[in-house]
Amino acid sequence: MKYLQAGDRIHLVDRKDRHYALTLQAGETFQFSGERIPHDDIIGKPDGTMVQLSTGKPMLAIYPTLAEYTVKMPRGAQVIYPKDLAMITIWADLYPGARVLEAGVGSGSLTMALLRAVGDRGQVTSYEVREEFAKTATRNIERYMGVVGNFKLRIADIFEGIHQEDLQPGLFDRIVLDLSEPWQVVPHAVQGLRCGGLYLSFVPTIPQVQQTVSALEETGSFGLIETFETLLRTWNIKGRSVRPDHRMVAHSGFITVARKIDVGVLVSEEPRQEGEESQRIESTIMEDQESNVEKT
Ligand SMILES: C[S@@+](CC[C@H](N)C(=O)[O-])C[C@H]1O[C@@H](n2cnc3c(N)ncnc32)[C@H](O)[C@@H]1O
Repeated sequence: MKYLQAGDRIHLVDRKDRHYALTLQAGETFQFSGERIPHDDIIGKPDGTMVQLSTGKPMLAIYPTLAEYTVKMPRGAQVIYPKDLAMITIWADLYPGARVLEAGVGSGSLTMALLRAVGDRGQVTSYEVREEFAKTATRNIERYMGVVGNFKLRIADIFEGIHQEDLQPGLFDRIVLDLSEPWQVVPHAVQGLRCGGLYLSFVPTIPQVQQTVSALEETGSFGLIETFETLLRTWNIKGRSVRPDHRMVAHSGFITVARKIDVGVLVSEEPRQEGEESQRIESTIMEDQESNVEKT
C-alpha cells in the first residue's frame, strides 16, 4: 500500500475527471470554488482514497501518473503531450542503460519520460539554452522523481555543438530533440551518435520537417528516415452514449526518426560519383521493404 505523504505532489480529481495539483503540507488547506479541505485530512490516507470537501463534495486523492503530472506541472515552454511522449519512447527505442542526448529541456516533460525509459543504468544529458527554463524543468523533475543521479543538465546552445566532456565516456545511443530548428543539430548528431544509434526530433510544422529531413539526407550518414504524427481520440462511454469525445488535441507535432548508418561498407564495395551515396542507401532500404512485403 502506498500512502499520501506530507511534501508530496498529489492530484485531487473531481467527478468530471478534472485534476487539481497540490503539494501536501501539514496545517495547510486546499481551497477550491469556495470549498475547503485541510491537507491533514489527506495526509496518511492510501493513494486512491475518496476524500470529502467542506460541502461533502467527493474528490479522489491520487499520486499522478507521469502523463497526468506533466500536463498539470508549471510550464516555462510548451510541453510534449503524453500521446507524443508514448510514441517517442518506443520510436526512439529507448531502453534501460541507453545514453541519451536531449535538447531543449523546456519544462522537463520529455526529460522525465527519457529518464524513466533509460532507468538507473542509463544516462540522460540535456541541453537548454534558457536558464529560467532549466530552473523550471529542474524543479518539475525533482518534485516528481527526486534528485536524479544519472541526469546532466547543461545550460548551453546545442547549435554550437556537443561539449567534449559529454563525449568523453563514448558516443550517444540516442539523440532526442524538441526545439524549433533541429536541422542545426544534425551535423552534431553525426559526430555524437554511435553507428546504429537513433535520431528523433519533434517539430510542429511540415516546413520544419522538410528542412530536418533534407539536413539528415545531406549528411549521407542517416538512413531509415521516417516522419509521422499521432492522433489520439478518446471516447465517451456512458450508458447508451458511446461515441468519440467532442474534443481532442488534434495536432501537436511531427516526429522524425532516422538511423545512423555506416556508409563506409557501401563505399568500400565500389568507388562511385558524388551524390550517389544517399540514393544508393535509399534503394537498399526500398529493396528491404519490398522483400518484407513479399514475406508477409
Ligand atoms: C518546446 S520546448 C521543449 C519542451 C520540452 N520537450 C518539454 O516536454 O517540456 C523547446 C526548448 O528548446 C530550447 N532551445 C531552443 N533552441 C535551443 C538550442 N539551440 N540549444 C538548447 N536549447 C534550445 C528552448 O529554450 C525551449 O526551452
